[in-house]
Amino acid sequence: MTNNPTVDAAGTAEVDGTAEVDGSIGIFDSGVGGLTVLRQIQAVMPHENLLYFADQAHVPYGPRPDGEVQRFSLEISRFLIKHGAKIIIVACNTASAAALNYLRSAMAEVAFVGMEPAIKPGAGETQHGRVGVLATVGTFDSQRYASLMTRFARKVTVYEDPCLGLVEQIEAGELDSPETKRILNDALIPMSGENVDTLVLGCTHYPFVLPLIKQLAGPGVSVIDPAPAVARQTRRVLGERNLLIRSDSRGTLTSFTSGDPENFANSIRKLLGFQMPVSQAIWKSGTLTIS
Ligand code: DGL
Repeated sequence: MTNNPTVDAAGTAEVDGTAEVDGSIGIFDSGVGGLTVLRQIQAVMPHENLLYFADQAHVPYGPRPDGEVQRFSLEISRFLIKHGAKIIIVACNTASAAALNYLRSAMAEVAFVGMEPAIKPGAGETQHGRVGVLATVGTFDSQRYASLMTRFARKVTVYEDPCLGLVEQIEAGELDSPETKRILNDALIPMSGENVDTLVLGCTHYPFVLPLIKQLAGPGVSVIDPAPAVARQTRRVLGERNLLIRSDSRGTLTSFTSGDPENFANSIRKLLGFQMPVSQAIWKSGTLTIS
C-alpha cells in the first residue's frame, strides 16, 4: 500500500487560548469508519489522548443532503470541544466534503483536519493512466471532489464507484460476507476490465475491507488509504501550534456513539483488536446530550 496521498491542508483556523496540550485529539465519523484514522493517529502519536465520536444514529452520511451533514458535524464538533478536544479530525470524507469549510467558518478558533480522496497521489502513481475511486455518493457529488478532479485528474481516466451498501455491511461487521463480496466485485470487475492499476479509498470505512479489496482487485493494483497521511498531518498541525502532548505515558482512549454503546464496543474490539470505553450520546432536538 502507498502512503503518500494529499490530505486537506487543514488548520486554517487559529486555536484560541482554551486548547490545552493535554487535551484530546477529537475524531469523528458517521460510524466505525473513522477508527481506521484513529488507529493511525494512535500509531503516530501513542501518548496523545484520543476522543472518538461515532454518529451511528445517522449512519450512513453518504446519501444525506449537505445541510444535514453540516448540522450534525457542527454539533459533534461542539460536543468534542466540550469534552476536551484540542483539535478535531473530520475522519469522514463525506462530512469533510459537505461540512469542513462550514465548520472552519462557524468555529474559527478551532483547528480542523479533514479528509479527501487521494486523487493527486493516485494520478501520480498509476502506470496505465487509470485510477479507480471508491467513495460515497455524497463525496462524489461534492464541489470538493470536483475541484480535486479539475486540479489533479486532467491526464488520467478516473473510474468511480459508490459501493452502495458497503458502509452498512462494514457497520454490521460483515467484512467478508457474500453481500460485501458482491458489492466489491460489482465495483472492481469493471475497473479491472478497464486496466485500472491504482485504487483510491475515498471513504474511511473501506480500509476495514482492504484484504478483500486486495484479493478481488488482484496483485497488480496498488491501493491508497489516506489515513496514515492524515495522522502525520495531525501531528504537524499540533506541532505548529505547540499542542503536542508532553507526556511519556500512553494516551487515554474514550469514545461516544449516538447508537448502541454495547454494539459499538464490540465493533471496536472486532475491528481494532482492543477495548475502548464507550458512552452513549443522544440526539435531542438537534443537540447532543449524554444519557
Ligand atoms: N466513513 C465515511 C466517509 O469517509 C462515510 C460513510 C457514510 O456514512 O456514508 O465518507
